[in-house]
Amino acid sequence: MNNFTLHLPTKVLFGKGQIAAIKQQIPNGAKILMTYGGGSIKKNGVYQQVTQALQDFEVVEFSGIEPNPQFATLMKAVTLARQEKVTFLLAVGGGSVLDGTKFIAAAINHQGDEWEIVKSHGQVITQALPIGAILTLPATGSEMNGNAVVSRKETQDKLGFFSPYVKPQFSVLDPTTTYSLPTRQTANGVVDAFVHTFEQYMTYPVNAKVQDRFAEAVFSTLIEEGPKALAEPENYDVRANIMWAATMALNGILGVGVPQDWASHAIGHELTAQYGLDHGQTLAIVVPAIMWHQRESKKEKLVQFAQRVWHYQGNDQTEGVKIAIAKTRAFFEQMGTPTRLSAMVLMTVNSQLY
Ligand code: NZQ
Ligand code: ZN
Repeated sequence: MNNFTLHLPTKVLFGKGQIAAIKQQIPNGAKILMTYGGGSIKKNGVYQQVTQALQDFEVVEFSGIEPNPQFATLMKAVTLARQEKVTFLLAVGGGSVLDGTKFIAAAINHQGDEWEIVKSHGQVITQALPIGAILTLPATGSEMNGNAVVSRKETQDKLGFFSPYVKPQFSVLDPTTTYSLPTRQTANGVVDAFVHTFEQYMTYPVNAKVQDRFAEAVFSTLIEEGPKALAEPENYDVRANIMWAATMALNGILGVGVPQDWASHAIGHELTAQYGLDHGQTLAIVVPAIMWHQRESKKEKLVQFAQRVWHYQGNDQTEGVKIAIAKTRAFFEQMGTPTRLSAMVLMTVNSQLY
C-alpha cells in the first residue's frame, strides 16, 4: 500500500427530511447565494423545502446552471455574488450545479483571469467562499470531494480542477429527492459511480485489501440496486443504497494508497466537449474498450474483479478477463446505457426523427 493523507471535512446529513436541518449548518447572519439548474428542483418539491429551511436568512438565487456547466454561465453568477456581497454558497442539484458552485466559490475573490482556476486544474486557488450542498443526483461524488469540471464552449474545453478549499462544508443526501430522476439520469449516475470505483481499482495490485474490498462492495451494490432503481424509482432503500454508493465511490476513501488510472474519464470528457454526450454515456462507451485495450497490463485486477464481483469460479486468466469485460458491458446495457459509439449515433438520429 502506498503512503497517503486523507482529510474528509464534509459533514454528511443523510436521509429523508434532512433538508430542514441545513439551517443549523449555515452561520447566523450569512448572506446566501442559492444556486440551481434548469428547474427540476421546482417540480419535485426540493426548492420548497430549501426555501422553507432558509426563511431566517437573506437569500439571493442564481438558476440555470446547465449540465456540464459552462464558464460563461458561471461567470454571471460570480458577477451577481460580487454585487450582492454574498458570504455563503448553497448548491442544490446534481454534479453540474455542485461543480459550478465550487468554481463560483473560488472565483468570487480571485484576482486576475478566472479561467486560470480551471486551466491550472485548481493550482491557483488560495481561498474560496464556504459551500453547502443539497444533492439531487447520485453520480459524481462532488458532494464530498474537492473536484469540479467546467466546460467552455468557444474553445471546446471540458477540464477538471481540484482544490481542498472547495470541499463542501456539509452535504444533504436525501434519497427521496432522487425519485424524480429521469431514467437516463438514474442510469448515468449508476454508470458514473461504477466507473469512479473502476478508475481507482482497475490498475495493478498493491496489496491494499481494505480499498479493494470497499471498491468491490460499491461495485456489487451498484450492480444489485441499479436495475431496481429503474424498475422501482420510488423504492427508498434502493435509492438510499445507490446514493451512498455513489458518494463512497468518489469521496477519497477508495483511492487512498492505491494507483489510479483516469484514462476513461479523460477520453469521456473529450467526447462530451465535442459531441455533447452525457458524462455517464461517454463512460459506458469508453470503459469496455479500455478494458480490452489494457487487458495485458491489468490482467491481475481484471481477474480479481471477475472472481469477486462477477462470481467467476475459475482461475484462467484469459477467460477471467473476457468475463470481466463482457459482464461490465452487459451491465451498462442493462442500465439502458449504450456501450458503442455507433449505438449512440443511432439513438441520436432516431430521437431527432421521432
Ligand atoms: O438542471 P436541472 O433542472 O436540475 O436538471 C438536471 C439535469 O438536467 C437533472 N436532475 C438532477 N437532479 C434531478 C434531475 N431531474 C429530476 N430530478 C432530480 N432529482 O439531471 C440532469 C443532469 O444533471 P447533472 O448535474 O449534469 O448530472 P451529473 O450529476 O451526472 O453531473 C455531471 C457533471 O459532473 C461532472 C461531469 O463531467 C459533468 O460535468 N463530474 C464531476 C465530478 C466531480 N465533481 O467529482 C466527477 C465526475 O467524474 C464528473 O466528471
Ligand atoms: Zn465521472
